[in-house]
Amino acid sequence: MRTIVFATQKGGCGKSTLAACLAVAAQEAGERVSVFDMDPKKSLVRWAAKRKDGDLPVCAVSSAKLPAALIDLAKQNVSLVILDTPAFELPASLAAIKTADLSIVPARPALFDIWASEVTGRKLRLMDKQFVFLLNQCPPTREALRVQEGVAALQAIGTLLRPHIRARAIFLEALERGKAVTEADPKGEAARDMRELWLALKRRLPLSRTLR
Ligand SMILES: Nc1ncnc2c1ncn2[C@@H]1O[C@H](COP(=O)(O)OP(=O)(O)O)[C@@H](O)[C@H]1O
Ligand SMILES: [Mg+2]
Repeated sequence: MRTIVFATQKGGCGKSTLAACLAVAAQEAGERVSVFDMDPKKSLVRWAAKRKDGDLPVCAVSSAKLPAALIDLAKQNVSLVILDTPAFELPASLAAIKTADLSIVPARPALFDIWASEVTGRKLRLMDKQFVFLLNQCPPTREALRVQEGVAALQAIGTLLRPHIRARAIFLEALERGKAVTEADPKGEAARDMRELWLALKRRLPLSRTLR
């Protein structure tokens, strides 16, 4: 079982949106996925309530219950756990980061997001945790200067995962209906990006480990 956490200092950069879409893309690629929503805002628990999909359980889990909950999932042969977190310093986020095999730090190509990512990256390094940056909500033109600057800034601190995810209405439309982009528009570019993202992540994840 492998565990991925979406974590960053900055709110609103797409942790919950990407966690939901990645969970479905990984499931479509054959993983047995479970999602833990550790944010008191419970965006993903509410998304799951609309979704009504028994094959993709989404549970609210506190930091205290996380270790036992993970052992439980391992016993159920879950292959991938995706953790969604609130602000970085909260106990829920720190517990999730400590337990995860890989942290994904999403950032918009905007100065405040990049600064926040630098801080998050430094803290993850101090915690001796593996992490990757991911640019989200990029403007439509691929070569936009703002994106290039964001790429350079993030690459100076750590690994930047590809593809860059663009700002697209389908992300909002899909999640509002309890869906992911690969379900709402399977042939669209957002869906293709999420499938590519899962493959890029899969290559970086360590082999399954046994929880005791
Ligand atoms: N790639 C994207 N394209 C368009 N809208 C996006 C994208 N990613 C996130 N959003 C929107 O940005 C807002 C913040 O996203 P959210 O996932 O709630 O961030 P976080 O969980 O980090 O606070 C939401 O309204 C969401 O629909
Ligand atoms: Mg969120």
